[in-house]
Amino acid sequence: MVMVNLFNGFYKNRKVLITGHTGFKGSWLCLLLNQLGADIYGYALNPPTKPSLYNEAKIDEFVHSYIGDIRDYSNLLEVMLEVNPEIIIHMAAQPLVRESYKIPRETYEINVMGTVNLLDAVRQVSSVKAIVNVTTDKCYENREWHWGYRENEPMGGYDPYSNSKGCSELVTSSFRNSFFNSKDYEKHGIALASARAGNVIGGGDWAEDRLIPDFIRSIIEGNNLEIRSPYAIRPWQHVLEPLSGYLLLSKMLYISGPKFASSWNFGPDDKDARNVEWISKELCDKWGKGVSYNIDNNPQPHEANYLKLDCSKAKNELGWTPRWNIEKTIYSIIEWNKRFIAGDDIRSVCENQISDYFNTPN
Ligand SMILES: NC(=O)c1ccc[n+]([C@@H]2O[C@H](COP(=O)([O-])OP(=O)(O)OC[C@H]3O[C@@H](n4cnc5c(N)ncnc54)[C@H](O)[C@@H]3O)[C@@H](O)[C@H]2O)c1
Repeated sequence: MVMVNLFNGFYKNRKVLITGHTGFKGSWLCLLLNQLGADIYGYALNPPTKPSLYNEAKIDEFVHSYIGDIRDYSNLLEVMLEVNPEIIIHMAAQPLVRESYKIPRETYEINVMGTVNLLDAVRQVSSVKAIVNVTTDKCYENREWHWGYRENEPMGGYDPYSNSKGCSELVTSSFRNSFFNSKDYEKHGIALASARAGNVIGGGDWAEDRLIPDFIRSIIEGNNLEIRSPYAIRPWQHVLEPLSGYLLLSKMLYISGPKFASSWNFGPDDKDARNVEWISKELCDKWGKGVSYNIDNNPQPHEANYLKLDCSKAKNELGWTPRWNIEKTIYSIIEWNKRFIAGDDIRSVCENQISDYFNTPN
């Protein structure tokens, strides 16, 4: 069930380097690019969780995997010179807010200097034509308002994770101005963009302190789900939503260059930005076996209450729109996890969901 014709066959045999390929989003991106017939390379540390989608779906079997630290500039450069990628999607990161309160320095080293290392290495590798730096909805200066943030609003970030991603955005725009400027495109031939997705959910995430993995752990352990910040609103979206956006964007960067070299939001429709308690209730109801949740009222580290993205730019200029609403997304997560618990072949489960996703009209 290979789908090489998606994206007009653009990714067939295309050399794509993913940093962070062993993580949750990176593994789904490898599975998707494999369906598109791409020649996939990855640079990351070992999978960050046990179990991991990377191991469960045996991604090593079809990706050229380099295990290395994004902070190790000379190793990264050596790999890039060996691989000669055409497209890079940069996702290697310390991606957790609560972890960033425990290890702020490391979070900045990985998320900020990691971006600097990658973009500086690109300057030495002549094959690269398109780069997408994956940051987050949390990179904006949060005003706790109800409107969605637009791409031209100020960067910020209260906690070290969000702030490090705001910094990674600033690094991106500095490299774009200084080294990959559109007015010199004929000379350097590189188009660099950044992408800000919402709260990404899907089967195969086992990270600490994220709602869906916490829910699945509570089911396996036979406990109630403990939720924090029940009224916090987040732009929840299935992992395939932003990944389809990144691939559309990198294709347009490759084909049309500077026109698309800017920042892009890829979030859900406004109606799907729900609060944590709504998602928890939906998960418990749809799992269907007497699972319940408790609200943890202990004091928690600061996290934003309202966070939405305005995605008009991606919709109008890239023609990207979300395909799955929140109900379908939750259904797919429940189905995925029931299959995982039943011991089904995880690569086929993911491939079927990829096919279902792209067969849903948008
Ligand atoms: N999951 C979400 O809800 C979400 C939302 C918005 C943005 N993002 C961003 O998407 C990207 C992927 O997130 P994820 O949820 O898949 O995270 P993840 O923790 O599952 O994966 C992180 C990846 O980065 C790699 N990595 C971490 N430190 C590294 C280092 N020092 N050197 C090299 N590789 C290193 C890990 O090995 C792994 O491959 C991150 O940049 C994250 O900030 C995630």
